[in-house]
Amino acid sequence: MSSRLNPIAVFDSGLGGLTVVRQLMRRLPGERIIYFGDTARVPYGIKSAETVTRFAEEDIEFLQGFAPKLIIAACNTASAAALPRLDGKCAVPLCGVVKPGAKAAVRKTRNGRIGVIGTEATVESGSYRRCIADLNSDIKIVARACPLLVPLVEEGRTSGDPIVRAVLKEYLRPLKEAGVDTVVLGCTHYPLLKPGIRKVMGSGVQIVDSARETAQEAADILVDSGRVAPARAGLRHRFFASDHPERFARLGRRFLGRELGQVRLVQPELLNGCLALRVAKKA
Ligand code: DGL
Repeated sequence: MSSRLNPIAVFDSGLGGLTVVRQLMRRLPGERIIYFGDTARVPYGIKSAETVTRFAEEDIEFLQGFAPKLIIAACNTASAAALPRLDGKCAVPLCGVVKPGAKAAVRKTRNGRIGVIGTEATVESGSYRRCIADLNSDIKIVARACPLLVPLVEEGRTSGDPIVRAVLKEYLRPLKEAGVDTVVLGCTHYPLLKPGIRKVMGSGVQIVDSARETAQEAADILVDSGRVAPARAGLRHRFFASDHPERFARLGRRFLGRELGQVRLVQPELLNGCLALRVAKKA
């Protein structure tokens, strides 16, 4: 049984999950975070559910080495594709970003029309659609894949950039036409484009940031199990990336809102090794 001083482990295909870490640090300031960004294999959003599940299993296997008390899939794509398949198979409690975002959207909508934007894999998985329909089957959902947004964010482009503005206008058109009053940012990269999304959708539309909702869900899980770490000085978070850790540290500042400090490289072979280990254990 892990103690309340054990860390929270978080993973994403790359930088996006740092938006979740930012909210975790605000909501749970006593928690030590271990973060893994799978930068060698980003983007996950254009890959098949089988491949994303395999990557997620390897990411989780790697993070389990830090004896976390909770693992957060801070990636909508991994949450959508892999979490339903991994539920109950992991020794550590697992939390994704899809359910918290879906719950918040259902709570917020007034006209029963919700827009969801995400990667191709997330939208194709239909997981937001299912989660929202489970909560309220009368809600109309308009989901739109926005494959250009992750590369634009990873490239450091922001809401004021004319290319970003044009792309957002194009992607958000069907949501506007459907008259949605709530939009779920179904990708952890998108909070960085929130001002641009708000501008295109108009101020009457509520934006659900799944990063914020996930931090709240994590807090609820820890409170319910009596495992919230007390606020303490000298917390040392650790960040790992599977490629180009210097770039990760440089760009990560914008996502996290502060310096990351040292980012360590995890050799992709080590991740494959994790899988080999898991398969060997099963055999
Ligand atoms: N941040 C990931 C998500 O929330 C998407 C990035 C990717 O395509 O790898 O879906």
